[in-house]
Amino acid sequence: MTIDFHDTNNQTTYSTRDADQSWIQLITENINLLGKDVVDIGCGGGIYSKALAELNVNHVTAVDFSEEMLKGATKNCKDYNNISLIKGNAYHTKLPSYKYDFILERALIHHLDDLKACFDEANRLLKKNGILIVQDRTPEDCLLPGNDHHLRGYFLEMYPKLIKKETSRRYTSHEVKTALESAGFKVEKSVKLWETRRYYHNFESLREDLLLRTGRSILHELTDKELKLFVNFIETKLQHQTSFVEKDRWTVWFASKK
Ligand SMILES: C[S@@+](CC[C@H](N)C(=O)[O-])C[C@H]1O[C@@H](n2cnc3c(N)ncnc32)[C@H](O)[C@@H]1O
Repeated sequence: MTIDFHDTNNQTTYSTRDADQSWIQLITENINLLGKDVVDIGCGGGIYSKALAELNVNHVTAVDFSEEMLKGATKNCKDYNNISLIKGNAYHTKLPSYKYDFILERALIHHLDDLKACFDEANRLLKKNGILIVQDRTPEDCLLPGNDHHLRGYFLEMYPKLIKKETSRRYTSHEVKTALESAGFKVEKSVKLWETRRYYHNFESLREDLLLRTGRSILHELTDKELKLFVNFIETKLQHQTSFVEKDRWTVWFASKK
């Protein structure tokens, strides 16, 4: 069953880890965030809102359409006085026009049907020359084989039925670029990122994370029984290891408002 972002049980699914240095490095190498007003659309539990808030920005407006996600984010961001959490839809945030310097849309677009409408809204919010960063997995990213770090590849290896689900909900790089351009952006570049998702000190912590389906909406497509079998399968694959570093392959598009 597809993940329900409005279910209380999923309230903390996107808040139980911190953004990794691999992500922070990509952002800081490409954008000067000093004193900037930023928006994190589809903020989930605020993992990346917090990371941005620590990068000397002026203020982070974190937007999500799910009250449950925002409850999780409120707890996660409670120590940050430069983050505001706002209920809003990526298509119609109700935020003011031409006010923001930078927008992040991370792991959002594969949940949306209308890419152009989402980018139109981002364009409306940004000042001239403002930057939009879109981060998601393309079908190509999803289809990379599993290995000791890329556990998502094993999801698809064991359950080929997930291939269709993943590839049909993911946009190709060409589709993202075309939608950005038609919404009035100049695509400056797109890069591939192997982002460290999480370090696990033993298999038990990885097992728990997988069984809870934490932050992995694709695992909501499996039954509990299928998921348990998958965890056994992964344990066999990784049995020679004592600690685990999970990485995901992403595509990140940098676009500027013309
Ligand atoms: C996969 S999570 C990503 C969360 C966070 N950006 C991260 O990377 O950890 C997707 C988030 O987008 C939100 N979302 C999905 N569709 C949305 C929409 N139309 N408007 C606003 N938020 C939306 C969901 O509620 C969820 O919190």
